[in-house]
Amino acid sequence: MCGIVGYIGLPEKTAEHNALDVLLEGLRRLEYRGYDSAGVATVSGGVVESRKKAGKLANLVAEIETSPVAPATVGIGHTRWATHGGPTDQNAHPHLGDGGRLAVIHNGIIENFAELKERLLAEGCVFESQTDTEVAAQLIGRHFADDAAGDLTEAMRLACQELEGAFTLLAVHVDQPDRVVAARRNSPLVVGLGEGENFLGSDVSGFIDFTREAVELEQDQIVTITHDDVAIIGFDGTPAEGKRFTVDWDAAAAEKGGFDTFMEKEINEQPKAVEDTLLGRTDAEGRLALDELRIDPEELKDVQKIIVLACGTAAYAGTVAKYAIEHWCRIPVEVELAHEFRYRDPIIDETTLVVSISQSGETMDTLMAVRYAKEQGARTLSICNTNGATIPRESDAVLYLHAGPEIAVASTKAFLAMIAAAYLLGLYLAQLRGQLFQGQITDILADLHKIPAKIQEILDNSEQIKQLARDMADTPSVLFLGRHVGYPVAMEGALKLKELAYIHAEGFAAGELKHGPIALIDEGQPVFVVVPSPRGRDSLHSKVVSNIQEVRARGAKTITVAESGDEAVKEFSEAVFHVPETQPLLMPLLTTVPLQIFACALASEKGYDVDQPRNLAKSVTVE
Ligand code: F6R
Repeated sequence: MCGIVGYIGLPEKTAEHNALDVLLEGLRRLEYRGYDSAGVATVSGGVVESRKKAGKLANLVAEIETSPVAPATVGIGHTRWATHGGPTDQNAHPHLGDGGRLAVIHNGIIENFAELKERLLAEGCVFESQTDTEVAAQLIGRHFADDAAGDLTEAMRLACQELEGAFTLLAVHVDQPDRVVAARRNSPLVVGLGEGENFLGSDVSGFIDFTREAVELEQDQIVTITHDDVAIIGFDGTPAEGKRFTVDWDAAAAEKGGFDTFMEKEINEQPKAVEDTLLGRTDAEGRLALDELRIDPEELKDVQKIIVLACGTAAYAGTVAKYAIEHWCRIPVEVELAHEFRYRDPIIDETTLVVSISQSGETMDTLMAVRYAKEQGARTLSICNTNGATIPRESDAVLYLHAGPEIAVASTKAFLAMIAAAYLLGLYLAQLRGQLFQGQITDILADLHKIPAKIQEILDNSEQIKQLARDMADTPSVLFLGRHVGYPVAMEGALKLKELAYIHAEGFAAGELKHGPIALIDEGQPVFVVVPSPRGRDSLHSKVVSNIQEVRARGAKTITVAESGDEAVKEFSEAVFHVPETQPLLMPLLTTVPLQIFACALASEKGYDVDQPRNLAKSVTVE
């Protein structure tokens, strides 16, 4: 949930890379992981200098301007999404231990913090915050002074043996100013390798401005970085090797690229995101070749049931996947919110394929559901955007999205990329099981490859929907209706509007209207309707046109998203947004886009920060 960064350099590098500047730059790029507060600690002249402030990073920067920090070669920085303890200055990280000689930052939740705190209080420790992190800081401090005999790595190791839960911890101590020590369990951490300097980050954006060479840590490991060394051990003290990799996206990819917000940039990147997701997934004969899946194709042939696990937007991508996979493969597909799944005694065996969908690959609800499914004997496949994240690493198989980093908290390009990846998976299963003719698969793939240009067409003609959003900025409520694959699109349209514009928005299956929600319709109530293709399944289109008439008759202001050439909806719509034609099952890749643009424009018109909506974090790493 939080963003963490660590740095160690050499004194002669300080003019070029002062620790404070490196940390603030890393935090700027990591702020999407949480923005309840930010803080840094450096070590210089035998003291820990700590500055921290509630609110966004800008507050911390202002604090440092009024209370400057001496140049330093070593330090740690943190951007927080509050869990234990509210978003206050006091609860901001770093937290100090060992009489203020040790500073610690933390991402995750220490589940046994209450009992540890009780023990530490009885031993005479004094606490300044309500956080679980301060408990870890005091614990590491105690070990440093006692049984670790002044060795920070050993103090961290001994503390980790007592901690339960999920955590990444970073620590610096005045007695060992030549190192930063970090530990990880169920929370992300990567090392950046420099020349005469080394870095730590929750992900590579924490140091991408300084190096592209990185090392990935496994679970339950501790890393000690000095300016010229990276030493890894397990929690049991056994030396370990990290896995080296080179970061292949550039720093500019994480910037706004000329748009006012990351969200607009990412909406506009969708043609590329879908294109990249489709790229390189066929062999010379045009057959789907998903070798990277790391799973024996024979095992996939035997799959009797698929369960898709995900949360939020990713779960709506899962619902689209259900429609496509069932239709193409004739395998039953259940879609379930990951946080509901493992508490209901689901029926799973080795013929069940559990497909998790997650942009971050770190969503704790999804991770725990995947682990549970594995324990029950299911095969697990991860559709994920983040290379090396925990969920794909722990799954039997993985299909990466290749959508690039998604910085805006509300997901857009990852949603389309997830749908595209799910289509690839469905077609691959159909190919393996001989469920579709190769010619049919080739035709669908050809249509999929035409989608990026069609998304671009929608983006190029988005002024009308933006204007509508500006005109509707004061509306207190918007409803969204859809059927078939338009249903999850309607849900996603409503979610985008709630989370960005903070107005009441709800999505419904259009057929469900008459079973209750129609009571909400009143004079002037805006209702978006995602209209299926008139060329699709018999009668679906006409059913939705009837639904439009039903709400309109009760005073609704109907706004339709329909296929170009669909003239039938015009007469019943206040406004129609046309999207280019495609196969009915592929329509979510197009019909979603006007709804994203609408939500983003309406929220911007209201003056809200669309990149960092209130109360939300990009990566939800607590249950
Ligand atoms: C909404 C949104 C969230 C995420 C959800 C799962 O815009 O982004 O609903 O989709 O928190 O996150 P991931 O995909 O990282 O598992």
